[in-house]
Parts: sequence; C-alpha cells; structure tokens
Amino acid sequence: MHFTLRQLSIFEAVARHLSYTQAATELHLTQPAVSMQIRQLEANLGLPLFEQLGKKIYLTEAGREMYRYSRAIAQQLQEVDEVFAELKGVKRGRLAISVVSTANYFAARLLAAFCKQYQNITFNLDVTNRERLLRQLENNERDLAIMGQPPEEMDLISESFMENPLVVIAAPEHPLARRRNIPLQELVAEDFVMREPGSGTRIAVERFLAEHQLALSTSIELTRDEAIKQAVAAGLGLGIVSIHTLDLELSTGALVLLSVESFPIVRHWYVVHRSGKRLSPIALAFKDFVLREAANVWPQGARLVQAASSALKAAS
Ligand code: PGA
Repeated sequence: MHFTLRQLSIFEAVARHLSYTQAATELHLTQPAVSMQIRQLEANLGLPLFEQLGKKIYLTEAGREMYRYSRAIAQQLQEVDEVFAELKGVKRGRLAISVVSTANYFAARLLAAFCKQYQNITFNLDVTNRERLLRQLENNERDLAIMGQPPEEMDLISESFMENPLVVIAAPEHPLARRRNIPLQELVAEDFVMREPGSGTRIAVERFLAEHQLALSTSIELTRDEAIKQAVAAGLGLGIVSIHTLDLELSTGALVLLSVESFPIVRHWYVVHRSGKRLSPIALAFKDFVLREAANVWPQGARLVQAASSALKAAS
C-alpha cells in the first residue's frame, strides 16, 4: 500500500474542513505536521490531492476520489470501535445526526434527554436544510437524520414519530387575521416571506399549491424560520411554517394563525437512515429513544398540533 491509515485520517480531516489549521486543531497536531503528512501522501500516490488558489485550498480530482474512500474507511473504523465497545458492554461512542432546521426546535431537547441516559457520547449535530441533509445521507456522512417525508427514490429507512402541520402565520394586526376560512385563491394574492429553495417546508408548500393549480404571486426568500417569523411580525407579509416553530410566538401573541381553507398542510417528522447501514448500538438506542420518547420530551408538540387543526375553525 502507498499510504498509512494515519495519513488517510489526516487527509480525511483536511478534506472535510478544507483547512490545514482546522484539521490540525481537531487532531491535536501542529499545522506543519499535518502539511508534511499530506505532502508525503501526495508523493506516495504520485498525484496532488489539494490545490491552493489564493488563501483557499480545494480538492483536486484525485483528492475528491480519495475523499470518498477515506470517508468510507473512517466510518468503518468507527464502526469497529463501537462494535467492540458494545461487546465490552460500554455505552459510549460518537453519534453524527443531522436535522432539518425546522426540527431543531425540539431536536436539541431530544438530545439533552438522551444524554442524561448515555453520558459518554460525543454528539455531532448538524442543523441544515432538506437538500443538504439528503446529500449528507447519500454520502453516508451521518448516522441518523430527522426530517420531513424523505423522497421515495432514495434507498432510505424512515419511521414517523410526530405530526408536523404547516400553518399560515400573520402579524396580529394583519387584515386577514380576523377572517375565517380564507379561500386559497385569496391567500396566494398576498405577499409572502418564504424559505429558500432546497427547504423541505418550501417544497411541501409549492407541491400543495400546485395540487390546487395555484402558486404564490410574490415572495421574499429567507433562509431561517426565525428570520421568517421576525419578518412576518414586522408586517413584511404572510408566512407558512411548521407549527413546531411557533411555541413562543403563539403564547406571547406576537404572531397569529390564519384560518385558511384546506390548511394545515399535513406532514410528519421521520427519523431516517440509509437502508443497509449498520447502525451503531448508540445510533440504534437514539433511534428507539426518538420513536418512543418524542411525545414526552416535547409535550408542546401535541398542543401545537391541536392548535394547528383548530385554526381553520376559529379565526385567531
Ligand atoms: P426544512 O425541512 O427545514 O428544510 O424546511 C422541513 C421538512 O423537511 O419538513
């Protein structure tokens, strides 16, 4: 072989961060030690793995190939570690989870409650949007993900654990706030503040409107649910978000739910992983915990889901 496992794991860290300095910090090495290992690896392989343009480094084509293999090998080595830890009866390990940004409102609570039972776990939680999360699953970069309905064309195992209705929100003084059963046709003529393309919420809204042969006429794009709520409260337009993002705003009255025909859009939360992936004991334990305990850890969920379904009957 032309390289050592150590060189491979150093390469993996540099390629993941695209930074020698960050890789060195993560691996508790000096930056010159990291650069030297990469230079040796490149010399052994006879091909450059990185190229430097200005201050940034990029993977070359050979580097991208090497990254694919080094990720898979790093995952396998971690699996060996976890399987042996389990054989020794040790409840410890690393867990890499991604959640779509909308789920972050309860995901942190799930992790906190889980950590109370399993204290020797290192978590890596990535909060991202649906499109990026699906890419991570495809590259086998994460153990588990929490997201809306995953696409059928991907080979994934998904189990649903909670309802996730999407609702229309407005500032309390908005003229539509006192109306009941607002027709969809009238709704789409309003100004909207929407999530970015690639957001699961956005995709679900567009699909729902397309089923009714409708589309929004004007919308401003924002990448965070928090930003959308602020913009709607400030009167920039209406928003469509998951009811789970609204715990605070509904209790303070900063925002109201509109009574719109055919709403809420019915969705569910799923815990998801690649089919065929060998889940570590910790990942299995976390998946079971989510399926069993989500309703207890996030009791607000049931109350919010109830509020979403009664919004149609009574104007807020
Ligand atoms: P999003 O995903 O946070 O990307 O909008 C939400 C979902 O998948 O339901």
